[in-house]
Amino acid sequence: MLSHCFLLLLLSLSSLTGPSLTLPFEQRGFWDFNIDGDGGGLMTTMMRDEEEGSAVEEMPPPEVSICPFGCHCQLHVVQCSDLGLAEVPANIPTDTKLLDLQNNRISELRENDFKGLTNLYALVLVNNQISKVHPRTFAPLRHLQKLYFSRNLLTTVPKNLPPSLVELRIHDNHIKKVAEGTFESMGSLNCIEMGGNPLQNSGFEPGAFKGLKVSYLRISEAKLTGVPKDLPESIHELHLDHNQIQAIELEDLSRYKQLYRLGLGYNKIRMIENGSLSYVPKLRELHLENNLLSRVPKGLPEMKYLQVVYLHSNNISRVGIDDFCPRGFGMKRTFYNGISLFANPVKYWEVQPATFRCVTDRMAIQLGNYKK
Ligand SMILES: *[C@@H]1O[C@H](CO)[C@@H](O)[C@H](O)[C@H]1NC(C)=O
Ligand SMILES: *[C@@H]1O[C@H](CO)[C@@H](O)[C@H](O)[C@H]1NC(C)=O
Repeated sequence: MLSHCFLLLLLSLSSLTGPSLTLPFEQRGFWDFNIDGDGGGLMTTMMRDEEEGSAVEEMPPPEVSICPFGCHCQLHVVQCSDLGLAEVPANIPTDTKLLDLQNNRISELRENDFKGLTNLYALVLVNNQISKVHPRTFAPLRHLQKLYFSRNLLTTVPKNLPPSLVELRIHDNHIKKVAEGTFESMGSLNCIEMGGNPLQNSGFEPGAFKGLKVSYLRISEAKLTGVPKDLPESIHELHLDHNQIQAIELEDLSRYKQLYRLGLGYNKIRMIENGSLSYVPKLRELHLENNLLSRVPKGLPEMKYLQVVYLHSNNISRVGIDDFCPRGFGMKRTFYNGISLFANPVKYWEVQPATFRCVTDRMAIQLGNYKK
């Protein structure tokens, strides 16, 4: 599934680079020509020549911005990926909006690595070897909205992240702990992707998410044995697939009343306590595929907005006529448009057609016991 965060990045990248398509061609390389590495030398000589010429008024003031060696700098985007860099390069232009450092060998973020980059909007550090982050390294980044920190060697979520952050992707690190107050004063943060970390339920200190209003949270491919109790109440979308959750108990979801999408596939869920789904009345999508359920969970007919339920690859041996749809009319506001039940022991010819009376059409039901 394409992640919501990922789409945001695509959109924002295209809005950053989009205008380049409409602007007239600009000769930039000329000004970047730089013979002794400090922006002096030949370039200064050329500028002096220009000043003495007659066309001085027509020339825009030359931008004396230096592009770090090997990187490409264009229209506020500084591209330094795949260069084997062992550290963040110096001399990054201060008007940079997007800094791409992915696929390098950076092992540490030092205090002054991002000095002066107050205009930075997106920072891409994906696929490095970062295990150490100086507590003040992010302090200059007052306008940073997107931080992509996935595939590094972090063991904890760094403290002092920029309060302006909207999106944090920090999946596939070695994070075992999220300390209390990690996200303090980060009221703009909307989206956290932190899957692929060896996080257990005990790894979240009480108050770890305090102050957050995120709507999207993904902690998939971790070591959770239950739904974490202390996540932000504001979440609309929670992805906990590929964990080791064994049961959903009555109060587990009671905090997350705004949820409209819940991913619990690829766990070890045998039991969903009757009544637990009544706490998430706005749910539209429920993913429970590849678990150990032996029955359709209770409470689905009461969920007015539920449209998609994945129950394939479980141990469901019986489907009752009222498992999905309410009796009578008018209770369900939206009909289902996706129910999957294949790869269960239930004999599909024994399931009564009326079981799916509140489904938009037959094509929306995947029932046959074929294997994937
Ligand atoms: C589930 O709980 C509801 C009330 O919350 C109750 O009416 C219903 O009988 C229960 N179903 C089962 C199978 O326990
Ligand atoms: C599947 O359910 C049956 C009872 O319907 C039970 O005997 C069996 O152990 C279950 N399988 C697993 C893997 O839990």
